[in-house]
Amino acid sequence: MHLHKYEKIWLIFGIGILFVFLGVVGVGAFAMGHQPASSIKTIDPEKVAETAPFDNPGLVHIEGNKYELNLVAEGFAYTPNTIQIPKDAVVTINVATKDVVHGFSIAGTNVNMMVEPGYVSSYTQTFSKTGEFLVLCNEYCGAGHHLMTAKVEVTE
Ligand code: CUA
Repeated sequence: MHLHKYEKIWLIFGIGILFVFLGVVGVGAFAMGHQPASSIKTIDPEKVAETAPFDNPGLVHIEGNKYELNLVAEGFAYTPNTIQIPKDAVVTINVATKDVVHGFSIAGTNVNMMVEPGYVSSYTQTFSKTGEFLVLCNEYCGAGHHLMTAKVEVTE
């Protein structure tokens, strides 16, 4: 079989890129331990209200400046709806939904999660700026989607 010179170059380039891609994905997955974020913690979506810590949602002090914030999302509200957080707190946010897919994003921060039925979405954020932050649902979840908000108050 005769291959044109440019065909050979493209073939080598294509195969090379494939191995670079597999290398990047492989190093990320096996050496650095990157995993899909949403499949770590699961929850029975029918029993969110009875499952700890979502049976008693809110901010929990762990130690020092470490906190845990557990929230329940459902059409079309978050529980709790107003959250007070002390400045410089390192907060691990856990959100579970009782019904459909919702979003959980805090405007002006890196917090932006999709909340899927059956899974607990978690993200750790340091709140180093005081003020009021708007929490928004950014996944269309029904007729009241645009009303689905909450408030985070970071105080001294
Ligand atoms: Cu919940 Cu949109």
